[in-house]
Amino acid sequence: MQEQRMTILAVDDSPATLEVISRHLNGAGYQIHTCGSVEEAGDFLDAVSVDLVITDFKMPKSSGLDLIKYVRENFKDTEIMMITGYPSISGAVEAMRDGAGEYLAKPFTGEELLAVVRRILDKQARRRAVHAGTQEIATHGIIGECPEMRTVFDLIRKASQTSANVFISGESGTGKELVARAVHYNSDRRASAFVPVNCTAIPDTLLESELFGHVKGAFTGARDSRAGFFEIANGGTIFLDEIGDASPSLQAKLLRVMQSKEFCMVGSSRTRTVDTRIIAATHQNLRQLVQQGLFREDLFYRIHVIEIRLPSLAERGNDILLLANHFLNKFASDMGRPAPRLTDEALTALMHYPWPGNVRELENLLQRLVIIGEGDDIDITDLPETMRFTISRHRFGEKTLAEVEAEHIRCVLAGTGDNKTRAAEILGIDRKTLREKLKRLGLG
Ligand SMILES: Nc1ncnc2c1ncn2[C@@H]1O[C@H](COP(=O)(O)OP(=O)(O)OP(=O)(O)O)[C@@H](O)[C@H]1O
Ligand SMILES: [Mg+2]
Repeated sequence: MQEQRMTILAVDDSPATLEVISRHLNGAGYQIHTCGSVEEAGDFLDAVSVDLVITDFKMPKSSGLDLIKYVRENFKDTEIMMITGYPSISGAVEAMRDGAGEYLAKPFTGEELLAVVRRILDKQARRRAVHAGTQEIATHGIIGECPEMRTVFDLIRKASQTSANVFISGESGTGKELVARAVHYNSDRRASAFVPVNCTAIPDTLLESELFGHVKGAFTGARDSRAGFFEIANGGTIFLDEIGDASPSLQAKLLRVMQSKEFCMVGSSRTRTVDTRIIAATHQNLRQLVQQGLFREDLFYRIHVIEIRLPSLAERGNDILLLANHFLNKFASDMGRPAPRLTDEALTALMHYPWPGNVRELENLLQRLVIIGEGDDIDITDLPETMRFTISRHRFGEKTLAEVEAEHIRCVLAGTGDNKTRAAEILGIDRKTLREKLKRLGLG
């Protein structure tokens, strides 16, 4: 996606304040416009598309509240931030509840201004990504835009142009099979078969006949001859899933067929030649299995020509929201109903959850939510309890009480521009106690 300059409109009756805001935001690369009154701002908004409106609360004619109302009613995708002086804070807080996004108290530093602006625009960008849908890069149903997934798409493309063996690694549920299929269906082997083989599931006694087939009468019960996986995948691709679980005898047989490209069907001495592309995958650390002597090093190098590593879902940033939206639409349309919307809180929760089951877990969760959900919204309270618990523990759980206290004190001090009297007031302690605490924290 191309980076676009975000457009901000600042509205204040004080030219000095407008000047300060312009200077800081211009410096940070935003496109900034200013208006001296609500009326002027209304006209401007009708003419120019704006991402964020920063407005003063108290102005001589109409107040910031009128502007907020106007924006809320007419420009649903525009964010609002309010600036207030101390005396009017309580009114402003109420206004925020009524639909303004965030507020900043005067006087503020350039850093504080930038921090709030960035937070608002970041949230907006995430929401836009979720509701856009059209920004998806889809390769055979693989959704993703983050840099790690772009690398994956790039490797899929390169791998598709050759017949070299591919090794796909990644935690469970990250889309390894999806990627294997994409490589096959993007390659010129697509007209022939893609044959998935689960290496965990084949008992050693059946190995030979499953992989290479058998001729009629090869063993008791072999009433007909039957082709094996390699034969079926001739001209196409064989996908060796969970290769880390392959038994020593399976490993030996795979190595042999990879080296010679030849095999014999069980019960026959005639060698057959196949042209089969091999893609292998595992959620295990194969290198470690080699070090532990559980996986053959020679086979490891054979299958490891091109490696595609799939990132865990938690590493994919905003892709989580893109995927969530994709699954919501998919399951809702399966059920023939409009897709529910995820509230901002629910979106934030999805972003903070560690997703041990990766994309598969996200997919299952959204399917469940679409099936059991009744309203138009999915809120944080609709998410499973274990998930909400993990999120709050993830955010706060590893900290001691003293650390939380220190963090809060620092935060309040920053918010008051280092005004200790005001900070003590907010914290509900006297100045002396605050001084002592600061000294203990090495901040005094
Ligand atoms: N980037 C993606 N976009 C859309 N759907 C995805 C994506 N990644 C995974 N999925 C979906 O998530 C589910 C799990 O994917 P897949 O079976 O390919 O994972 P896997 O890595 O093979 O998992 P395992 O290690 O458990 O076998 C599938 O339903 C798949 O369609
Ligand atoms: Mg799989």
